[in-house]
Amino acid sequence: MPPETPPILSDGRVTLRPPASSDAFDIAEGCQDPEIMRWTTVPSPYDISDARTFLNDRLTPTQWWRNPTWVITEADNRWIGTVDLRPDGQGAAEIGYMIAPGHRGRGVGTAAIRLACTWALSQWGLQVITWKAFTGNVGSRALAQRVGFRIHSETLRLGLAHRGQRVDSWYGELLATDLTSPHSSALSSRAKAPAVALTRREQQVLNLIAAGEPNRAIAQSLGISENTVKNHVRALLEKLHARSRTDAVVRGVSLGLTQLPH
Ligand SMILES: CC(C)(COP(=O)(O)OP(=O)(O)OC[C@H]1O[C@@H](n2cnc3c(N)ncnc32)[C@H](O)[C@@H]1OP(=O)(O)O)[C@@H](O)C(=O)NCCC(=O)NCCS
Repeated sequence: MPPETPPILSDGRVTLRPPASSDAFDIAEGCQDPEIMRWTTVPSPYDISDARTFLNDRLTPTQWWRNPTWVITEADNRWIGTVDLRPDGQGAAEIGYMIAPGHRGRGVGTAAIRLACTWALSQWGLQVITWKAFTGNVGSRALAQRVGFRIHSETLRLGLAHRGQRVDSWYGELLATDLTSPHSSALSSRAKAPAVALTRREQQVLNLIAAGEPNRAIAQSLGISENTVKNHVRALLEKLHARSRTDAVVRGVSLGLTQLPH
């Protein structure tokens, strides 16, 4: 069977899509940034051939599923950052991310990492996502904390390699139950996604979809017909601008409308 098409994730403001060869110039330009050089392991110096090498490893679905990588975009669909998950094949993956310099400080990173983590923990079946950063990377740490990662107070001595040298690192991890919603904390209004009003029934149906229930079980549990459930699902997909049930759950969790089962 051919591998599934990589998922596109969106909260209505920030969209994660698979990388395309046409992203090379934007990536090459963004990765010149001194902060990206300082805090990530991208090649230094970085030019268009590095961007092409990065993309060439991620263009087919088979390559993609080995190392899920999304381009972070807003309305114009252009690269403004990258998030990737490096799975260990045993229920865990380490996350990496960057946002282009002109797009920082607007909550884009938080929204994008929340979407990727929500999908990975609810739909892809990961049990834990790990995060590591060189000590001193306060921006990355604040972002991870905002998404819900539990960050440890101690340092992992020589926990990471950076350009041929071992360096101390901070570390943390995120389980499905740690995920925060945009409305659960004091996020400034700039980062809030548009509100979506669900009816009581739609809310119940969304909660049951998030719990992994099929339509028949939802109908039984709510005492309504399967056709009525289908109508509610259709309305939900429309309100959440979701293409599938999976997408509806990811968007519902991202918008703080539902939670994953504990
Ligand atoms: C770290 C990075 C991804 C943050 O992206 P961003 O889109 O600016 O993040 P957000 O706007 O969502 O901010 C998230 C939180 O981090 C805080 N933050 C972001 N950058 C910060 C910085 N340099 N110093 C202190 N806090 C910072 C924000 O204030 C916000 O906290 P708040 O919600 O309490 O206000 C971005 O700065 C970046 O790409 N840096 C270089 C590459 C990098 O460090 N990658 C991570 C490697 S582990």
